[in-house]
Amino acid sequence: MPRFLPTTLHSPRLTLRVLTPADADALFTICRDDETMRYWSCAPWREKAQAVDHVRQSEDNYRDGTALQLGVTLRETGQLIGTVTLYAIMRANHRCEIGYLLARPHWGHGYMGEALALLIEHGFEQLELNRIEADLHPHNAASAKLLDKLHFRLEGQLRERWFVNGEVSGSDMYGLLRSDWRAAKG
Ligand SMILES: CC(C)(COP(=O)(O)OP(=O)(O)OC[C@H]1O[C@@H](n2cnc3c(N)ncnc32)[C@H](O)[C@@H]1OP(=O)(O)O)[C@@H](O)C(=O)NCCC(=O)NCCS
Repeated sequence: MPRFLPTTLHSPRLTLRVLTPADADALFTICRDDETMRYWSCAPWREKAQAVDHVRQSEDNYRDGTALQLGVTLRETGQLIGTVTLYAIMRANHRCEIGYLLARPHWGHGYMGEALALLIEHGFEQLELNRIEADLHPHNAASAKLLDKLHFRLEGQLRERWFVNGEVSGSDMYGLLRSDWRAAKG
């Protein structure tokens, strides 16, 4: 699997690009929101320092090839409205997991479907991935619908996998193969 090259991806409404320290404020606004973080793997952020650390980690991961996180920005204004990430990359097995987060005011406009389609295409066609996995809170209906539209399959359920904010939850595990993706694209 090749190393990451400078990555900027475009769709009609969005540009996906690497995060920079200047994104910390916008990222903090997104991740401090209780509803946005309802089914996330950690509690909502309470300190801006968490956003600063996150960007630093994202830059490190990009450099060492551990994870590819891209900021989702509106082409028209440049505003950062979310992030998408390929992480837990197992190069020898050509597989990884995918994560995504969108600012609440921008839900329901199909932005994340547009962003993930770009990232998935990049993963399969440029990064030589063969399989992308997603781990969903079983109540995250919007996310399940989104994955369904992107041709992921629900492959199984894992019990009591997360302890977040005093709540224990399992995972619905989804998978998408490169062959599924290519077949769906026709
Ligand atoms: C999940 C998330 C990324 C969806 O992004 P989005 O851009 O709003 O997605 P879309 O507009 O493409 O909507 C996806 C579908 O879910 C549907 N949907 C939205 N909210 C829903 C809900 N509460 N219940 C059921 N379906 C819902 C939408 O109607 C849409 O289907 P449609 O295109 O047939 O109308 C966004 O809600 C989000 O960031 N949530 C918080 C973070 C998160 O949970 N990330 C995923 C972790 S696995």
